[in-house]
Amino acid sequence: MRIGLFDSGMGGVSVLKKLIMKYPNNEYVYYGDNLNVPYGNKSVHELLMLANNNIKFLLSHNVDMIIIACGTISSNCLSKLVNKYDVPIYDIISPTIDYLNDSNFNNILVIGTKRTIDSHIFRNRVNKNVIEVETPELASLIEENNLDNMYQILHKYLDSYMDRIDAIVLGCTHYPIITSYIRDVLPHVRVID
Ligand code: DGL
Repeated sequence: MRIGLFDSGMGGVSVLKKLIMKYPNNEYVYYGDNLNVPYGNKSVHELLMLANNNIKFLLSHNVDMIIIACGTISSNCLSKLVNKYDVPIYDIISPTIDYLNDSNFNNILVIGTKRTIDSHIFRNRVNKNVIEVETPELASLIEENNLDNMYQILHKYLDSYMDRIDAIVLGCTHYPIITSYIRDVLPHVRVID
């Protein structure tokens, strides 16, 4: 099978890596929309337009299935994309929500882009105590590999939740790239990507 994935940039490579490990016999086509990164602050209208362009690009490469390897598009556009094309389209947020609902975690912090957090998809669909926090500058810094102030930035966002959560969800596919930094800042908290 030939599977297409897309994201605003390199973030979705974190999804691609896991797929290659788990399903090494498929072929993969990855599209990173570097021209338009970051997606996280764009309007839903713009996001939908970009998602449709990305899907058309992948379809022109004859993929049999598409995975939206982007939390921002997954949380805002899925219902408008899913029945529009002849190939199945999957998002990366729904499986995370199912996992959380089946888990033993009770107090969950979700970090994501502004648009993902604005959608309140986690708060609305996870039956636990969910705190949603937007971390708007992270995706761009990660995309630029500008990690010099990462600890300082993470402390600013995360310190006040440290004692109140048992899990943190990386709601943006760029964030697994900084998992080791997040683990250092929240050593007792389970990191879920
Ligand atoms: N990696 C994407 C996400 O999961 C997009 C981040 C961005 O471009 O702002 O939300």
